[in-house]
Amino acid sequence: MAPKVRRVGGVVRPPGDKSISHRVVMLAALARGTSELSGLLTGDDVKSTARVLRQLGAKISPIREGMAVQVSRAPLTAPRAPLHSGNSGTTARLMLGVLAGQKFAATLTGDASLRRRPMRRVTEPLKQMGADIKERGDGLPLTIRGGKLRGLTYSSPVASAQVKSAILFAGLTGQVPVTITEPYRSRDHTERLFAHMGLGIHDRNGAIVFEPTVGPSGLPAVNLSVPGDISSAAFMVAAAVCAEAGELLVENVGVNPTRTGVLVVLERMGAHVERVNLRDEGGEPVADLLVRPAALKGTEVTAAEIPTLVDEVPVLAVLASRAAGETVFREVGELRVKESNRLELIASNLRAVGLRAEVQGNDLHVEGSDKAPRGKVETAQDHRLAMAFAVLGTVPGGDVKLSEKKSVAISYPGFFEDLKRIRADVPT
Ligand code: S3P
Repeated sequence: MAPKVRRVGGVVRPPGDKSISHRVVMLAALARGTSELSGLLTGDDVKSTARVLRQLGAKISPIREGMAVQVSRAPLTAPRAPLHSGNSGTTARLMLGVLAGQKFAATLTGDASLRRRPMRRVTEPLKQMGADIKERGDGLPLTIRGGKLRGLTYSSPVASAQVKSAILFAGLTGQVPVTITEPYRSRDHTERLFAHMGLGIHDRNGAIVFEPTVGPSGLPAVNLSVPGDISSAAFMVAAAVCAEAGELLVENVGVNPTRTGVLVVLERMGAHVERVNLRDEGGEPVADLLVRPAALKGTEVTAAEIPTLVDEVPVLAVLASRAAGETVFREVGELRVKESNRLELIASNLRAVGLRAEVQGNDLHVEGSDKAPRGKVETAQDHRLAMAFAVLGTVPGGDVKLSEKKSVAISYPGFFEDLKRIRADVPT
C-alpha cells in the first residue's frame, strides 16, 4: 500500500530526463573525443541505450546515481549479437536512425512489450531514405542494413518525437539533409541538442530542417548536465496536489514548452504550480516547482495538447478522478501502443478501485469523485501506470494495491522512497 500523504513538505529532485538522456548518450557515442554527462537517468531504459551502443563499440562508463558518465567513440562496428532494447521504445526507434547511416547489418529486438509496439512509423521513412530493412510485421525483431542514404522531406502522420528523431539521426549519420513536418509539435529535445552542438538545424515555416554541417567524424564532444524529468516530477506534483496541507518544492525540473502540458492542464484544473529559479541548462529551460494542495475541477484536454503531456495522461487521469466534474482527454488513441495498452488500463483500473472512467472511441472520459479509491490495479509492468496508481493510493482513506512495483525502475528507480520522503506528517 502506498504511504498516505496528508501533509506534504520538503524538497524532492526527480531523476534525469529520460528523453534527453537517450539522445545525449547516442550523440556522445557518435562524437569525437570524450563527452562528460551528468544528471543522466539511471533507469533501465537509458541502460538499454548504453548497452546497445556498447555492443556497437562505444565506450560508456557505468551509469550510476550521482556519478558523471564518460562516453567515447570507437568507430561503430557490426554487432555480434542482436541489439536488445529491453522495454525501451526510444532506444529501438532512435537507434534505427543511428543505424541507418552505418554500413553494416544489425538486428534489433526487445522485451515482449516492446516487440508488440509499432516500428513501421520509423522504418517507412528510413526505407525512403535508402536503408535496407527486413521486417516480419509491424514490430521487432527486425534487421537493418544502413549505408548510403538520400535526403528526405517527410510529413509525419503522427506527432511522434521518436519518428522525428529517428529521421534526424539518420540525416546525421548518413550525412544527408532532411525536412520534417508533424501534425502537432512533439518534444524538441533532439533539435535543441543538435543546435547546442552546432549541427545544422533550423525551423523553416514550422518545418524542422537539418542540413549537415560537420561530418560524423567532426561531431564535437558534448558536456551536459541533464535536467530532471518533468514526466517523473509529475508524480510528486500530483501527490502534493492531492494532499490536504503543506507545500512541496520539486527541484531541477526541465520545463521545455513541448513538455509542460501537464502544468498547463493542472493550472486549468485549479492547481497552482509556481515555477521558480528559471534557468537554462544546455539549451533546455529548467525551473524548480513549488506545489501546494488544491481542490481540482474537471477539464477538457484537447488533441493539440496531447503531445505536450502524452506520458502524463495516466497521472492526470488519476487527478481527474479526484476532481469535481468530468474530464475528457481527446484523441489519446496513441496510448494504446505505449508500454501497455494504457488507454484501456487507465479506465479499467480506475473502475477497479471504485471510480468511473470509460473509453469512447479515442477519447478517455473520467468522472471525478471524492470516494476513497479501494481495490487492486493491474500495472501490466508499465512504469507509468504503477506510479500513477501509487499516487492514487496516497489519498487519505484510499487502499490501492498494485499488481507489481518493480517496473518503476524503468524511469524512476527512487520513486517509492521519494513518495515516502514528501510526507511531512510522519518522521522519515
Ligand atoms: C519519447 C517520445 C514519446 C514518449 C516517450 C518518449 C521520446 O513517444 O511517449 O516516452 O523520448 O522521444 P512518441 O514520440 O512515440 O509519442
